[in-house]
Amino acid sequence: MSQTTKMLIPDAEGFEDAAKILGAGGLVAFPTETVYGLGGDARNDHAVARIFEAKGRPKFNPLIVHVPDIETAKTHVEWGDAADRLASAFWPGPLTLVLPLKPDAGLSPLVTADLPTVAIRVPAHPVARQLLQTFGGPVAAPSANPSGRISPTQAAHVSAGLSGRIEAILDGGACDVGVESTIVGLSDTPTLLRPGGLPVEALEQALGAPLSHHGKSDPLTAPGQMTSHYAPGAPMRLNVTDPEPGERLLGFGPVDCTLNLSRAGDLTEAAANLFHHLHALDAQGDGPIAVSPIPQTGLGLAINDRLKRAAAPRDV
Ligand code: TXA
Ligand code: MG
Repeated sequence: MSQTTKMLIPDAEGFEDAAKILGAGGLVAFPTETVYGLGGDARNDHAVARIFEAKGRPKFNPLIVHVPDIETAKTHVEWGDAADRLASAFWPGPLTLVLPLKPDAGLSPLVTADLPTVAIRVPAHPVARQLLQTFGGPVAAPSANPSGRISPTQAAHVSAGLSGRIEAILDGGACDVGVESTIVGLSDTPTLLRPGGLPVEALEQALGAPLSHHGKSDPLTAPGQMTSHYAPGAPMRLNVTDPEPGERLLGFGPVDCTLNLSRAGDLTEAAANLFHHLHALDAQGDGPIAVSPIPQTGLGLAINDRLKRAAAPRDV
C-alpha cells in the first residue's frame, strides 16, 4: 500500500490528529524514551494486522502493549507481587513486563500471537504519554523499523524505513535511551527475556533476587532474540581493537575511529548513540564495519546483545 505519511508535530493539534488516526484503525509512529514505536489500536485486529504488514514481519510475533499507568495495565493482565515491585520502581520507564493475560483484557489476539501472556509497558517519554492520554486506549507498538533492520531513534529513521506505508509520524526528536526496553517475564519465576534500556542489576536490586535467564531451548522465545536482527547492510566484526585496512571503526572509549559511541567510555551515552551511529554508517555505504569491545556490565548487556545480532550471518 502506498499513501502519504503525515509528519505531525507534538502540539495539541498533532496529538488530536494522531489520536483520530489511531481511533480509525490507522498507524502512527511515535517516540518513546527507548526507540520510536509503530503504534496501532491494540483492540483492533485490522490495525494490528496492518502493523505486521507495514513492517514486513514474516510472522505474527507478539507485540508490546503501551498503557498510560499501572492502573490501566491491571485491567489487561493478572497482577502479582513481583509486578508490583518492578512497576512501582521503574514505570514509567524502559521496562516491559510479560504477564498472564486477563480473560476479558479486550486485546486483539494478534497482539499476543494467541499466547496466554502479554507484554506490557508504561513509557516515560512525554510525547508517548500525551498520545496515550489523548487516545485513551491501549497502543500496540513494535519498534518502527522494517522487520530485521536497525531500530529508529529519530523521526527521520522512521520516515526512511516506513514512509508511504503508515498514516503518520509524531516527531518528538531523538530518543534518550536508544535501545529497546528490558523485557522481564513474570508468569513464572522472574526471567530476563531481553536485555534492554534498564540494567539487569537495577532490576535484581528491586526484586531482591537474581533474575533467571531465558534458555536458548525454551519454546517461548522473544522474537527480538532471533539471531539476525537490527542488521545494517554492511558486514560487521565485533570486539575489534585493531581494525583492518578498509574497515570503518565504530569506537568506544578514546580510540581513533569513524564514529564513537562514547569517547568517555560511558555506557548510557553509548546506548543512546548505538542505533543512531549504525544508521549513519549504513547511510555512508556498505564497506565493512568493526566495533570496539564494549564492557559486559549495566547497559553494556543490551548494547552487546544488539551488536551480536547486527553482526550475525544474514541467511539465518
Ligand atoms: O522499547 C521497546 O520495547 C520498543 C518501544 C516501541 O516500546 N518496542 C519494541 O517492540 O522493542 P518489538 O516488537 O521490537 O519487541 C517486542 C518484543 C519481541 O521480542 C517479542 O518477542 C517480545 O517483545 N514479546 C511480546 N510479547 C511477548 C510475550 N507474550 N511473551 C514473550 N515475549 C513477548
Ligand atoms: Mg524491534
